[in-house]
Amino acid sequence: MANVTVIGAQWGDEGKGKIVDWLASRADAVVRFQGGHNAGHTLVIDGNVFKLSLLPSGIVSGTLSIIGNGVVLDPWALKAEVEKIEGQGVDINPDNLAVADNCPLILPIHRDLDGLRETAAGSGKIGTTGRGIGPAYEDKVGRRAIRVCDLAHLDSLEPQLDRLCAHHDALRAGFNEPPVDRERLLNDLREIAPFVLKFAQPVWKRLKKVRKAGAKILFEGAQGVLLDIDHGTYPFVTSSNTVSGTAAAGSGLGPNATGYVLGIVKAYTTRVGSGPFPTELTDDIGKGIGERGHEFGTVTGRQRRVGWFDAVIVRQSCAISGVTGIALTKIDVLDGLDEVKICTGYRLRGNVYDYLPSHAADQAEVEPIYETMDGWKESTAEARSFADLPANAVKYIQRIQELIETPVSLVSTSPERDDTILMRDPFMD
Ligand code: IMP
Repeated sequence: MANVTVIGAQWGDEGKGKIVDWLASRADAVVRFQGGHNAGHTLVIDGNVFKLSLLPSGIVSGTLSIIGNGVVLDPWALKAEVEKIEGQGVDINPDNLAVADNCPLILPIHRDLDGLRETAAGSGKIGTTGRGIGPAYEDKVGRRAIRVCDLAHLDSLEPQLDRLCAHHDALRAGFNEPPVDRERLLNDLREIAPFVLKFAQPVWKRLKKVRKAGAKILFEGAQGVLLDIDHGTYPFVTSSNTVSGTAAAGSGLGPNATGYVLGIVKAYTTRVGSGPFPTELTDDIGKGIGERGHEFGTVTGRQRRVGWFDAVIVRQSCAISGVTGIALTKIDVLDGLDEVKICTGYRLRGNVYDYLPSHAADQAEVEPIYETMDGWKESTAEARSFADLPANAVKYIQRIQELIETPVSLVSTSPERDDTILMRDPFMD
């Protein structure tokens, strides 16, 4: 049996939550390996809606859920989310939740800095989720982060706090903000420490053990390849590597453990926040798709930008992330349209491109080249086999498959777990 790594192949919000939940019900462990509580994964199970940001999606089905070292962890957000999900009847305990003890923490000072920078940037802002993700990763690579394991040693934290606060005080002074209130920070950490430490452990060791026992492991990516710090639409990206390769480094297993790479792809395109979006629709068609697709952010409630399917970026994402097969989601949102368009290439200053160039100005300027296909009037919602789909929807899916040079493994036809058409089972491949 293979392990499976799930990643978003667009700008996030591809519907990973449902697919991961569907796979999680057959996995023995689910691992988050990057990002933090900027992610928003919605699961609908028997009509009950679970909104997760930081917890791996396996938690709802009682599967061992692991927050790997590649995640940046806000301990207060973790507590709030655990309490919220427990309030929905899910039991969360150290047997089914483990947090890497080498995870860097997101602190209130990171959230402060995220907000201060975005406000100062004005129209040049990234449009972050405001959760402090970027500043926390900066402190991680700057070697001044406070990590989960430090919560067990708060009495000897002073030298680390000195380093961290010296850096933040200088930055805060530039924004006319008072220095960090160290005493308050330390008190807050003392208060939250016992809660987090209950779940803390070297998760690489736990994963080694479950792997040795033959467990099926599901690696749950957050955001999408186009938001990757290296491969995305820089600087309008998140601060972690969102590609499949991060599953290994962000959990403490080798690259040979990551298995089948399932790219989640929405049947159209959305993006939240600023940055280039070649196929963006600002007309009534885009508005209609956004409304039918409920395109509002799970985390921030912001309205998502909407556009036609862009085969260029998905082909690029599949190559960069070594995608074995894709799960195509939200096809039902396109039901009823007279025609549907697919972007097959870009035009830029007289040249044709079959990829998205790296430079931000070029990304902003490329013009999509479209192929137009007939739409379908029949409903695809809740279809559970390919034979249930209208002929034009099948043609659309087949054309996507050709253009992205990657097979379609699953098609999702509603938010419900079982409304899924399976062509190839990632766990059996
Ligand atoms: P940050 O991750 O909060 O720093 O935000 C950086 C960029 O990534 C912004 O454009 C956000 O809207 C985007 N982003 C972060 N997390 C998600 C997500 O889970 N889905 C979609 N976009 C996201």
